[in-house]
Amino acid sequence: MIKTKRQSIRLPKSILPLRYKLTIRPDLESFTFSGQEIIYINIKKPITSITLHAKDLDIETVEIFQKDNSQFASKINYNTKSETTTFYFKNKTRIGKAKLSIIFSGIINDSLRGFYRSRYEINGITKHIATTQFEATDARRAFPCFDEPAHKAIFDVSLIIPNEHTAISNTLPIKIAPHEAGYKIVSFSPTPKMSTYLLAFIIGDFEYIENHTKNNVKVRVFTTHGKKHQAKFALEVAIKSLEFYEEYFNIPYPLKTLDMIAIPDFESGAMENWGAITYRETAILVDENHTALPNKQWVALVIAHEIAHQWFGNLVTMHWWTDLWLNEGFASYIEYLAIDHIFPNWKIWNHFMISDHNVALSLDGLKNSHPIEVKVNHPNEINEIFDKISYSKGAAIIRMLAKYLGEETFRTGLHYYLKKHSFKNTSTINLWESLEKVSGKPVGQIMKTWTRQTGYPLISINPNIHNSDTIEIKQERFLVNRAVRKETPQNNLWTIPLEINNEKILLKQKKIEINNNFIGKINKGENAFIRVNYTIDQLNLIKNDILENKLSPIDRLAIIRDLFALAEGGYIKTSFVLEYTLIYRNETEYMVWSEISQGISKIHNLIALEKFNQKYQKYVLNLFTPLANKKGFEPKVKENHEDVFLRNLSIAKSGIYGDQKIINQAQILFKERLKKSINKDIRGSIYQIVASNGNEKEWATFEKLYKEEKMQEEKDRLARALASFKDKNLLSKTLNFALSNNVRIQDSPFMIIAVWQNVYGRDIAWSFVKNNWTNLNKKYGQGGHFINKLLSPLENHIAIKDIIDIDKFFSKNTTPGAERALEQAKEKIITNASWVKADKLDIERWLNKNF
Ligand code: BES
Ligand code: ZN
Repeated sequence: MIKTKRQSIRLPKSILPLRYKLTIRPDLESFTFSGQEIIYINIKKPITSITLHAKDLDIETVEIFQKDNSQFASKINYNTKSETTTFYFKNKTRIGKAKLSIIFSGIINDSLRGFYRSRYEINGITKHIATTQFEATDARRAFPCFDEPAHKAIFDVSLIIPNEHTAISNTLPIKIAPHEAGYKIVSFSPTPKMSTYLLAFIIGDFEYIENHTKNNVKVRVFTTHGKKHQAKFALEVAIKSLEFYEEYFNIPYPLKTLDMIAIPDFESGAMENWGAITYRETAILVDENHTALPNKQWVALVIAHEIAHQWFGNLVTMHWWTDLWLNEGFASYIEYLAIDHIFPNWKIWNHFMISDHNVALSLDGLKNSHPIEVKVNHPNEINEIFDKISYSKGAAIIRMLAKYLGEETFRTGLHYYLKKHSFKNTSTINLWESLEKVSGKPVGQIMKTWTRQTGYPLISINPNIHNSDTIEIKQERFLVNRAVRKETPQNNLWTIPLEINNEKILLKQKKIEINNNFIGKINKGENAFIRVNYTIDQLNLIKNDILENKLSPIDRLAIIRDLFALAEGGYIKTSFVLEYTLIYRNETEYMVWSEISQGISKIHNLIALEKFNQKYQKYVLNLFTPLANKKGFEPKVKENHEDVFLRNLSIAKSGIYGDQKIINQAQILFKERLKKSINKDIRGSIYQIVASNGNEKEWATFEKLYKEEKMQEEKDRLARALASFKDKNLLSKTLNFALSNNVRIQDSPFMIIAVWQNVYGRDIAWSFVKNNWTNLNKKYGQGGHFINKLLSPLENHIAIKDIIDIDKFFSKNTTPGAERALEQAKEKIITNASWVKADKLDIERWLNKNF
């Protein structure tokens, strides 16, 4: 069980902020800043103290003005636990409007949160950017404020900066005036009424490109010097996305400009600050010669995601973080709609199945998952829920609802919701109310079964032993851990919009009987967020549909996806799914192969160090080598989007699982890369194949390349290569390299994770993390979501003894905000261990028989 009995630490509701006049003067040499603000507030009852959020700030003076009175705070108290500061006044204030004037200072930190610095080099000269990342609760590190999403206010930002620097904020400057020697003061026009977490200011030396939408919104993309040519694609996608959403939501974008800024050091992928979206470089920059297609696609999706937030999140904001999913789940859904519109040839919804829908099903199969609407108080708990449940499950159930209501009704409902709540805050229920109003359907009734309880249903379709004219459809919670399943009472029910035999029903009951005219796969198109457990007979029927190409790619994918999960959970034998994959030999769609390859990796993770792994490799190659041979190494003239993905996947799998011809070819391409550069779309895989078959020499080459490389995307590929060796000493070197000055703070965790995910690096990476915990926790802990990412490879461990180790370690090293992630990891380890125990022999026998 998770022990998080943190008391509520919300601000009192007796004082409301209306407007902030905020002036910040950053010093990019000492990495400090001074600030001054006037907060216009509304006092609802007489008070002698005011509590605001503040963290790592020094507050010099506080004065309150009311009518003709003013008084200084007689005492200033800091409460580091609740991240607040309280100002005490001798005389009770009156009810009504007041001005609070505060002078303060702080540091421009290097922990990627609050007001922080980013470092880069131009021609050997070190330069800095000062920038902000406030979501979820870090505006309080930059200025004392009411740092809760419901406390919306108007912001007038002024920045005092050196003449040669550029300042960017949510709106455009209205005035740039000379300040003292060498400095200017840039004053931005007032923002709309908005939450603190969406404020941003960025100071540095940038170049940019710009264009405008058909409704004349100016869109600009800022990069550090020498990179603006990589901003073109982002600018195009941003303009098209903005235009798409203006039309789709039927509400104009309320600002005059949309700026997007590429920041060399960035914690997450991107942040939707209103009018000033910040990005990690790999989430925005595209170099037509070097950016691989999946990366380019990622850039497009991230941009569409952040721009969607300008409405869903910024214009209408959740009341409290419990409803974070409204922001993130929705944006994670609608980004696909926008990209599908902009790039119809990409068939982007297929990618939704392999990067969101399936991921959500996996995580939510754990008992230690959580409901979409989840109670949170402390910042650590808030940061913890920026996870696959809020994002991917959120997106999947929105998709389910949109399909159920019909996309046009859904859209009308969204318009109604956004219009009604513009510049205000909402809870989940408000969205359901709007959709109910326009559709006349019981949206709230249906959806609360999906957002308020953990997990999702496994539908089983069973013959009726008493009456062969009917079959029974039953729902129960899917739980992947067989031990947990046995001891968990099955009393959850979901209301499922379900398609069976081309008929749409709303399944609410535990069991129903329907006519036995079974025609194959149910839930066509995978609209409902469920898994299905068919009988062997039914699977035999479905097998024919697959072979005769009667099922859509999404449906073919779903069948094999669920079989892998059912094997993992012990509902069926693993040999069954292995055998079933052989049906897919002639599969042509990338998304299906991608799903199969994910399933194959999971099983490989269990048995990689077993002797019979050799046979497993044979089995994998039996599937992937013909594909790799068919796709070849060279792009074909007339190939589609998916083919590029499939070429890369088939080369990667064949090479990694030991196809000698592919390995040789990869090594040749690598050796000759200076004569002929390796095609961008397979370059990452070539590196990994070379590394996984390489030694010291290759390690040194990759290290050198990493150090010299300027492009972040290429650096990421090289990082993965450095993590793909088999030799433990080399992997140890990679781990040390990850924490050296050669690797950015934003990138070290990913390098460590990559080693940890490599079966040969598993134990040394875990030891490394334990040995360097103080350092890692200092850099990434304290509620950062990095720490949960960093710990995620624990879920690949398969030995029960590791659980004892984890418990022992974290009982000494408490890690607030990682509690749930650790419980999830342990549940996964037990799942893995029982899977191996139950099916190792079964897998070995099947392999012996077939390979
Ligand atoms: N609002 C988030 C950024 C964020 C993430 C802030 C975590 C605070 C904590 C942003 O909209 C986002 O979701 N970014 C994603 C990319 C997106 C395409 C899924 C990210 O950064 O990974
Ligand atoms: Zn988001």
